[in-house]
Amino acid sequence: MQQKETIIILDFGGQYTQLIARRVRECHVYSEVVPWNMPLADILARKPIGIILSGGPSSVHDADAPRIDPALYEAGIPVLGICYGMQLTALLLGGAVEKAKEREYGRVTVRMKEQTGLFGGMQSASNCWMSHTWQVSACPPGFRVIAETDNCPVAAMVNEDKKICCVQFHPEVTHTEEGTMLIRNFLFRFCGCSGDWTMSTYAETAIKQIRETVGEDGTVLLALSGGVDSSVVAALIYKAIGKRLTCVFVDHGLLRKGESDQVCHVFSHLFPVRFIRSDAADRFFGDLKGVTEPEEKRHIIGRDFIEVFKKEATALGKLDYFAQGTIYPDVIESGQGTNAAVIKSHHNVGGLPKELGFTELIEPLRMLFKDEVRALGETLGLPKELVWRQPFPGPGLAIRIIGEVTPEKAEIVRESDAIFREEIVAAGLDRHVNQYFTVLTGIQSVGVMGDERTYDYTIALRAVTTDDFMTADWARLPYDLIARVSARIVNEVPHASRVVMDVTTKPPASIEWE
Ligand code: XMP
Repeated sequence: MQQKETIIILDFGGQYTQLIARRVRECHVYSEVVPWNMPLADILARKPIGIILSGGPSSVHDADAPRIDPALYEAGIPVLGICYGMQLTALLLGGAVEKAKEREYGRVTVRMKEQTGLFGGMQSASNCWMSHTWQVSACPPGFRVIAETDNCPVAAMVNEDKKICCVQFHPEVTHTEEGTMLIRNFLFRFCGCSGDWTMSTYAETAIKQIRETVGEDGTVLLALSGGVDSSVVAALIYKAIGKRLTCVFVDHGLLRKGESDQVCHVFSHLFPVRFIRSDAADRFFGDLKGVTEPEEKRHIIGRDFIEVFKKEATALGKLDYFAQGTIYPDVIESGQGTNAAVIKSHHNVGGLPKELGFTELIEPLRMLFKDEVRALGETLGLPKELVWRQPFPGPGLAIRIIGEVTPEKAEIVRESDAIFREEIVAAGLDRHVNQYFTVLTGIQSVGVMGDERTYDYTIALRAVTTDDFMTADWARLPYDLIARVSARIVNEVPHASRVVMDVTTKPPASIEWE
């Protein structure tokens, strides 16, 4: 669907390309990332109001370096070149690019020679994020230098007549203090954007695109986990094709309290898709019997999930498309995952569509970041508790029960977790603590209840603050909150007789206990 105002971002393989798109969307302007080699005619057919050339790992002098048709600069559309995009612009328009004397990496002070145009409203010197080995040594004709650093004489250049701006630093990353202002200036001062795009426009576009892809009578299958991403995808596809969407929800009996019923309620009443709930708790508990090793638990749950899902999907007969709630960080993670050591094998159903014979995927959240997905969910009318749900691991409560998993233990951890969650919400801390849950430690200890000696379980409270879940700090919860939670757990949850608090950072500990 054609948007009124579209910014096209040509992707040269830079790490931050989707961040550029995100910053543009934050300015309420629609943006789309396309590969650098998209033919110019196709780019122009999208009627962009501005074009951004991203950074990238190549050197413009490499024989196989990405190049674009220089006619792009003559199309009368404003262009912003970032890093590689700047160097390519310089080279194609008659300037020069040379190896920098010193490679610049990290925060660098950039001196802006003017406070108008691209730098309107910005300071005369600002911390910016740099990451480059090559740099522009001579501007092309018609351009003037508008910023410099100690090592980079052309840190930014502009050709006002042609509305082409270039910066060597990365305005899209948060380390660049005034980066958003610079992007705003490009969008509003150079491209003339009005900034009237919102998440509901995104939803309308995505719904229209899904309709176009799926056609008049096409059908879609979705594995609904009840998490934010798959729920938002389900709501979106439901709005596009109604009951031609079938959602299969595998209930492994290891979800949080109330979660399974909420998913069923939302997708049978609010978004009444064709909803298949597979109640497979017995099978999962059966296969987990006697298993204590965390990785083995994950493996069994992953395997059972796929088998149960396949059984349900096969019974449904052939559906046309498979939908997934892949979001942008998943795309990045899967690309980088090959180099990272596997600390915990994640419950991964990525191979599922292939196994089921699907060739076409629908992934409408692929370009969004988590908070954008939540905003989209709210726009679509999903309940707030679902949209703002904290992350929950695929293997569920199984990895929060140390040792063997049994239905009785699942009940203890589920009930204590519900109390902890309730109290965190009541204290107004749920949006500040990024993940919080209880763990049923394998430890039993002696206690007294009434006049009786007890020998029951120890519950650990785990609450962390984190931006990316790669590193985390333990949340400094108020003592009176901890006291309430502790008292409620030992009073209300049978077989829980002691509460302890996990005060370990990640690293060295991981967030989950298994
Ligand atoms: P860790 O424990 O590795 O957790 O510090 C980081 C984040 O990942 C989640 N997590 C999982 N998610 N399958 C998942 O889907 C898993 O096996 C798994 N293990 C950990 C964890 O909840 C936290 O958000």
